[in-house]
Amino acid sequence: MLVTGTDTDVGKTIVTAAITAAAQAAGLRVCVIKPGQTGTADGASDIDTVTRLAAPANTRTLASYPDPLAPLAAARVAGLEPLELYTAVDAVREEAEKHDLVLVEGAGGLLVPMGLRPSGEPWTVADLAVSLGAPAVVVSRAGLGTLNHTALTLEALERRAVPAGVVLGAWPAEPELVHWANLTELVPNMVGALPDGAGTMEQGVFQRSAPGWLTPALYGVLDDWRTWADEVS
Ligand SMILES: Nc1ncnc2c1ncn2[C@@H]1O[C@H](COP(=O)(O)OP(=O)(O)OP(=O)(O)O)[C@@H](O)[C@H]1O
Ligand SMILES: [Mg+2]
Repeated sequence: MLVTGTDTDVGKTIVTAAITAAAQAAGLRVCVIKPGQTGTADGASDIDTVTRLAAPANTRTLASYPDPLAPLAAARVAGLEPLELYTAVDAVREEAEKHDLVLVEGAGGLLVPMGLRPSGEPWTVADLAVSLGAPAVVVSRAGLGTLNHTALTLEALERRAVPAGVVLGAWPAEPELVHWANLTELVPNMVGALPDGAGTMEQGVFQRSAPGWLTPALYGVLDDWRTWADEVS
């Protein structure tokens, strides 16, 4: 399963941790893969964050680059080898043999250049989903601007026949009219929503809470958005 998003900083890493926690609570062995980690010169890696929140059985980062850029650009700027599509495909297949669920967190949004194919053409997380025949989770913002970005991302996935559901990365503690209006619009495609602040929770609390943020499609127990809305409002 690929975890992508409408943009960078939408909460892909926290959502990846939540799916990990819910799947592990359901008894699954989970491996989390970050194909291209950029910006390693300043700050923690996404795998560190997922490990802190959810402690997956196994994790892998396939390529790391110092600059906070898209992975292919970051490889070029640093004079490092770009990640090859089939290196990522092989890594996911290898871990899929040893785990019940492999979660792959992209970088930025769906069509960000991740690396190069043998032909020299760039590849994206959408290409990885197609190559693997894997479904995608689109992490979206809750606020203004999200309807267009979410619709564009879902359309790009649909065009490639990649099944996808939407998870809100951070639902605000005090939602405003725009958040409720967006929720109404997005609910038909939604498979989860994380509360704002989830990323700062202590591991035990995060692991116990995660199933309540996700529908059974993502190994959670959330089955009624009306109940969810009553609880968060
Ligand atoms: N539900 C949440 N609760 C608290 N903080 C959050 C939540 N979602 C995201 N954040 C914070 O927002 C920032 C971006 O989140 P995150 O790192 O998950 O985004 P991302 O989509 O994985 O970004 P990238 O493209 O860099 O991988 C982080 O500082 C994170 O802690
Ligand atoms: Mg991330």
